[in-house]
Amino acid sequence: MNPLPPGHRVVVAELGEDPLDAIEHFTSLAHQPAPDPATLGPRDVIVAVKSAAVGWVDLIMTSGQYQHAPKPPYTPGLEYAGEVAWAGAEAGVTRGASVLVDPFLAGPRSLGNYQAYGGFATYAVAPAEAILPLPGALTFDEACNLLGNYETAYHCLFTRGRLVAGETVLIHGASGSTGLAAVQLAKLAGARVIATGRSPEKLAIVAQHGADHTLPSIDFAPAVKELTGGRGVDVVYDGVGGDISVESLRCVKFGARFLIVGWASTPFVARGKGQRGAPNANQLPTNLIMMKGLDVLGSPTVIATVNDPSLRAPRLAQVLAWAEAGAIRPHVSHTFPLAEYRTAMRAKWNGEVVGGCVLRP
Ligand SMILES: NC(=O)c1ccc[n+]([C@@H]2O[C@H](COP(=O)([O-])OP(=O)(O)OC[C@H]3O[C@@H](n4cnc5c(N)ncnc54)[C@H](OP(=O)(O)O)[C@@H]3O)[C@@H](O)[C@H]2O)c1
Repeated sequence: MNPLPPGHRVVVAELGEDPLDAIEHFTSLAHQPAPDPATLGPRDVIVAVKSAAVGWVDLIMTSGQYQHAPKPPYTPGLEYAGEVAWAGAEAGVTRGASVLVDPFLAGPRSLGNYQAYGGFATYAVAPAEAILPLPGALTFDEACNLLGNYETAYHCLFTRGRLVAGETVLIHGASGSTGLAAVQLAKLAGARVIATGRSPEKLAIVAQHGADHTLPSIDFAPAVKELTGGRGVDVVYDGVGGDISVESLRCVKFGARFLIVGWASTPFVARGKGQRGAPNANQLPTNLIMMKGLDVLGSPTVIATVNDPSLRAPRLAQVLAWAEAGAIRPHVSHTFPLAEYRTAMRAKWNGEVVGGCVLRP
């Protein structure tokens, strides 16, 4: 008999036209029988999920508008943290240990057998190599917002952007999960940060996390020019896309690096229902790219790492070391019980969140 009591999980039965359609019509909270240890391998681990991040990518996956689409029915929750409820004999972890699960190796964004187990659930199963101790003094809520966000910021700013101390970086979507991580990492690297956003209240929190200057995300180019003595910034971190990208090209120095991180303002670049193709792709003016000698750098963290697995180990080690030392700490503005997953997903989609939004199964 299974020693673990049953729980609940969120199920996406079908992909929506867009995330709100998916949340409304194709998601439900279902009964979850506990995974049965008798059916698992010696290196498998059952995690009793305490906190799961509700990320932007979790949302656009529900409509298949993200490049990587698990086949429905599936449970969302790319990144989660919790306690070990059961571990196989060769897993090397003890029951009750507080752990963070590596979203590259387990969960809906991973590529192997553990894709079926997302964090929006009482239980998830992950292989031993995906189980990491909670670094430093991070809580479960903070830990489930660590790797995806900070590894993205690291990959974009440092691996692609070659950002160094003394340079100035313009960070758009700075109140978002990856944007706020980028603010913290750019400051750790000794750069000067100009952050943009739509809400003064959210920008006040971004400033508390180290941004040197905050600006509204409309008509920012003149202010950026002024702040940089007319020269423009060295690096742009653009997770927002659309008009913001185009305006950014007007306040960069010659030879700047322009990092394409994402397009949160134009999520309908891709078609819904998991249809492939991108009929509404953003466009950048080639005349400005040419005349300013820009390096426009596409910066997909997971895809780059699949192409060059050697990128991962130093990046992961550095992010964990910073978290262990207390140099970085994810900001979490909203938490919800699992049963309120719809409210949580809508809050994230509607831009109510600063940094992380968390479900607590
Ligand atoms: N390159 C990678 O490997 C990678 C990894 C993860 C995510 N991403 C992508 O990066 C983007 C950001 O992800 P995230 O997780 O940080 O999302 P997020 O937490 O939702 O943050 C996005 C931020 O963008 C701003 N924003 C959203 N809609 C906007 C609009 N219409 N106009 C202006 N600003 C808007 C918001 O800031 P304000 O409300 O303050 O304006 C929001 O906080 C997404 O496109 C995501 O797919 C890329």
